[in-house]
Amino acid sequence: MLLAHWKYPVSLLRHALRGTLIDFVADPSAHAQALRHVEDGLLVIEDGRVLACGEYNVLAGQWLDAATSLDDHRGALITPGFIDTHIHLPQIDVIASPARGLLDWLERHAFPAEAGYADPARCAESAAHFLDELARHGTTSACVYGTVHAQSVDALFEAALHGGWRMAAGKCLMDVNCPEALRDTAEGGVAESAALADRWHGRGRLAYAITPRFAGTSSRAQLQAAGALARARPELLVQSHVAENLTECRWIAGLFPEARSYLDVYERFGLLTPRSVYAHCIHLDAADRARMAAQGAVAAVCPTSNLFLGSGLFDFDAALAAGMGLSLATDVGGGQSFSMFSAMRSAHEIARLNGHGLSALQLWYWATRGAALALGWTRVGTLEPGAEADVIVLDPKATPLLARRTARAASIEELLFALLVLGDDRVVTQTYIAGVPAKLH
Ligand code: GUN
Ligand code: ZN
Repeated sequence: MLLAHWKYPVSLLRHALRGTLIDFVADPSAHAQALRHVEDGLLVIEDGRVLACGEYNVLAGQWLDAATSLDDHRGALITPGFIDTHIHLPQIDVIASPARGLLDWLERHAFPAEAGYADPARCAESAAHFLDELARHGTTSACVYGTVHAQSVDALFEAALHGGWRMAAGKCLMDVNCPEALRDTAEGGVAESAALADRWHGRGRLAYAITPRFAGTSSRAQLQAAGALARARPELLVQSHVAENLTECRWIAGLFPEARSYLDVYERFGLLTPRSVYAHCIHLDAADRARMAAQGAVAAVCPTSNLFLGSGLFDFDAALAAGMGLSLATDVGGGQSFSMFSAMRSAHEIARLNGHGLSALQLWYWATRGAALALGWTRVGTLEPGAEADVIVLDPKATPLLARRTARAASIEELLFALLVLGDDRVVTQTYIAGVPAKLH
């Protein structure tokens, strides 16, 4: 059943959700009172947006009239959906494939799978499954890599537009060091990107991301042209991979000896901008982190992928100290799970291995509001009136173990921590995209 979004017309009716409301009013890395927590709350939604949010007792009299349907989720959390800032559409087909490391994984698994996306029917089928999988895991927005084929992005945007999703995506630019079947050209690939941006950017809630795959698969001419497009169209996002794996870093240093660092390759071509999202950022140095912060570029940290491929341990303390913008991401299929619970749990484990501690609130923020702001999206990742109603309902008693553990939580932080460690798609009772249920059961 891949087409279930079609069942739900975008509702203009008012409806309300009752339950425990959780969102962030500030960044918990910088502010002590960043979490908003309303134990018995009411969220009123109309025309895809939040109309009111607060204490049930205060709001019920004003908002619950005969024309408003009420879903009673008492005992559950109602919170902004997760936002995955780095994920690959075609790699849904090779998730959970072992390899000796990043470059081996690309050659043996990713590239062969991506070659199949020349077929528009395959793109459409995959895009529908991909969105279903996001909804199942409580992810309401993502920043997505298609393949080199424009049709992969057309298919994803088509399905996302139909389902009302806020979604960013781009076709991979890759003109060297990759199989013939996945190669575009320096100018042709960027012209296709511009055409995709013309076709989709700003339609519904869609955003185009200029997507040089990584410095290893783009010629200087292509990086130059991508940078020119980013300069000409500053409203577009830019996304790429950087400093993921030491073998990769050495290879890039050999390809671009003129650059001070891997990150510097991108900066030289005008690709380090306030709209840039760089995946991994593991093997950066202090100067790189300072450049990321100065330019307002953000990291999409991919903890499950980094563990699965053995890429390395992201340094959260150094990134925070440098003032870098952070977000969490799955990097499916290098990452082995669509679940942002997994991403948060693995981020915790990576921080521990580095001798650092992260709070449940920091992790949750980077998977929701922080991720939204990383993408420049102010209207999602929050329950504020006027926000887009991308909301999930989470059942802290979804499994017997969760029920036992969360019943003993002495604070909301403790409950969120237990949820992020023990949670998975079973916790997600419902996913609302612009106020419309989208989760298949
Ligand atoms: N670097 C370049 N392409 C990829 C990819 O598809 N996945 C990961 N994890 N890293 C990359
Ligand atoms: Zn990736």
